[in-house]
Amino acid sequence: MAKERVVLVDIADRIATVTINRPDKLNALNRAVREQFVQVLADLAGNDDVRVVIVTGAGDKAFVAGADIAEFKGRTGVEQFHVTKSFGIFEAPERLPKPIIAAVNGFALGGGCELAMACDLRIASDKAKLGQPEITLGILPGGGGTQRLPRLVGLGNAYKLLYTGQLVGAEEALRMGLVDEVVPHDRLQERVRELATEIAAKSPVALEFIKDCLKASTRMPLDEGVRFETTYFGLAFSSEDKEEGVTAFLEKRQPDFKGR
Ligand code: COA
Repeated sequence: MAKERVVLVDIADRIATVTINRPDKLNALNRAVREQFVQVLADLAGNDDVRVVIVTGAGDKAFVAGADIAEFKGRTGVEQFHVTKSFGIFEAPERLPKPIIAAVNGFALGGGCELAMACDLRIASDKAKLGQPEITLGILPGGGGTQRLPRLVGLGNAYKLLYTGQLVGAEEALRMGLVDEVVPHDRLQERVRELATEIAAKSPVALEFIKDCLKASTRMPLDEGVRFETTYFGLAFSSEDKEEGVTAFLEKRQPDFKGR
C-alpha cells in the first residue's frame, strides 16, 4: 500500500509550496511528517526549477500545533533522542540552499513555532498564534527553541514565553520580532507568493551565499563573520549571474539570472 502523503508539494513558477497535511490533528509533527518533510526539502534542494520554498499548514486553523503529543506517551529518553537526531526536521530549512518562507496560517506551537523559526522568513496571518507551551507538559523545547527564540526576540521575551508557555497573537509576535510581517488571514498565501516571486527573480547563486552569510552571523564572532562574507563576496564575482546583473544594469534592462 502506498504511504499516506502527510507532506504535499506543489511547484509552479519556480516556487515550491510545501504543505504539512494533517489538518484533523492541527498538522502535528509525527514520524511520517518528519520523514517526508526532510525528504521533500532534500529533493527540492536538487531541483533547479525551484528557487524559493514556502512552508505552510493544511486547513484554516493551524500551521503546525507542535510535536505529536500522542507519540510522547511512554516514549523513552533514548527513543526521543533518536527521533530528534535522525530526522533533523529543524535543521532541514537551514540546510536547504534556497530561501524558505514560513506562511504561518494559524497555530504555530512548540515544534511548529520552532519549524517556523528555522525558516528564513515568517509571514503570519492576523489569526496566527505562536508560542512554546512545552512547559505545560513538563518538558522544554527540543527543536532548537531555546536557541533560535532568544536570537529572534531577545532573552527577556524568550524567558517569558518559555517559562509561562503563553501563546502570543500575530501582532505581539511582530512586535517581538518572532514574525516579520502580519497580513489579513485571507491574503496570507497571496502575500507570501508575491514575496516569493520577488525573491525568485534574483540570482540563486547570490541568494544561497546570502543565506550562508546570514546563518554565519548568528554563529560566528564579528571578525570571523566579516571575513566569511569577504570570501563569499569574492566568490560571487566568479558567477555568470554577477556578469548578467552588472551588464543588465549598464544596459538598463531587467537581469535574467540562470543560477550559474
Ligand atoms: N499533538 C497531537 N495532536 C494534537 C496536537 C499535538 N500537538 N495539537 C492538536 N492535536 C489534535 C487534538 O488532539 C485534536 O484531535 P482529536 O480531534 O482526535 O481529539 C485535534 O488535533 C484538534 O485539536 P483541539 O485541541 O480539539 O483543537 P482546539 O481548537 O480546541 O485547541 C490548541 C487548539 C492548539 C490550543 C490545542 O490543540 C493544543 O493545545 N494543542 C497542543 C499544543 C502543544 O502543546 N504543542 C506543543 C507540543 S510539544
